[in-house]
Amino acid sequence: MIGSSPELLSVIRAARLVASADVATLIRGESGTGKELLARMIHSESQRADKCFVALNCAALPESLAESLLFGHRKGAFTGASDAQPGVIKSANGGTLFLDEIGELPHPVQSKLLRFLESGECMAVGDSAPFRVNVRIISATNRDLYEESRNGRFRMDLFFRLNVVPLELPPLRDRLEDLESIMGSFINSFASDNGLAAPVFSPEAMDILRRHNWPGNIRELRNFCQRMTILLSGRVIKPENLPMELKSQAKERISAAFSLLDLGMGLKEIEEELIRQALARTDGNRSQAARMLGVSRDTLLYRLKKISLA
Ligand SMILES: Nc1ncnc2c1ncn2[C@@H]1O[C@H](COP(=O)(O)OP(=O)(O)O)[C@@H](O)[C@H]1O
Ligand SMILES: [Mg+2]
Repeated sequence: MIGSSPELLSVIRAARLVASADVATLIRGESGTGKELLARMIHSESQRADKCFVALNCAALPESLAESLLFGHRKGAFTGASDAQPGVIKSANGGTLFLDEIGELPHPVQSKLLRFLESGECMAVGDSAPFRVNVRIISATNRDLYEESRNGRFRMDLFFRLNVVPLELPPLRDRLEDLESIMGSFINSFASDNGLAAPVFSPEAMDILRRHNWPGNIRELRNFCQRMTILLSGRVIKPENLPMELKSQAKERISAAFSLLDLGMGLKEIEEELIRQALARTDGNRSQAARMLGVSRDTLLYRLKKISLA
């Protein structure tokens, strides 16, 4: 996993500890923050590394098939069951089962999963004898599962079982320190895979990227880098070259924040006020304040001197 922000490093450190311990782990984070990548990292650093890693997306499970996809079924167990199927739990025996979007697991199957977690035994649909399986469960969700379980939308006992060690991947907008290093790595690898020259981002374009809120997180960033590398190979990317959604988001935010008073407003006073607000919000941290304002630290220091706040 690329990135060196303290936020990411602390998750990775915790994940390493978890990897060696063979306990159930619940990874929380918005879509595209790297939950599956982190789950794979935990598996590959665990004692189960040479066994399989099986991923199942619970949001894609039709309710009627969820139980048999997880626990398997016997031949002829229901109409359409022309062959016996082992189910993902058995397929992952000895290894790691990654249950993605666990919050979407249908309620009746939640009970069966809990029973399996408590006993280590499960039963294929249509079978009468249970079998034992040894898997490690890593699950992931983009929801607040504790809140969901308090509202009865998720079984609380299952939540506690899955959440022995919680890991939280912060959204990209809260660890902008990682933006440039991840972009660099994506761009260089797409460029070399396709025999293209990597594009370079102008400082003004970078400012817009830093202020974008990246709702799709690293997945969005990855697609963006791919697009820029292909369309603007070898060029210097300026703000006008950025995709519409990035440019318009920056503009919308600014016009939502400001409307000119009828009496008029002084640009100098506005600048001073914004600098004060940025410093107040970052507890006086000048590098962070500069980032919020989309200028370099040196520029901020220069302006601070001018308005004698330095
Ligand atoms: N820190 C990271 N460094 C490099 N690539 C990353 C990082 N985090 C996520 N990715 C990539 O971003 C994409 C989305 O990650 P994924 O693990 O599928 O997210 P999620 O499961 O949270 O939706 C994948 O292509 C993944 O390889
Ligand atoms: Mg995912």
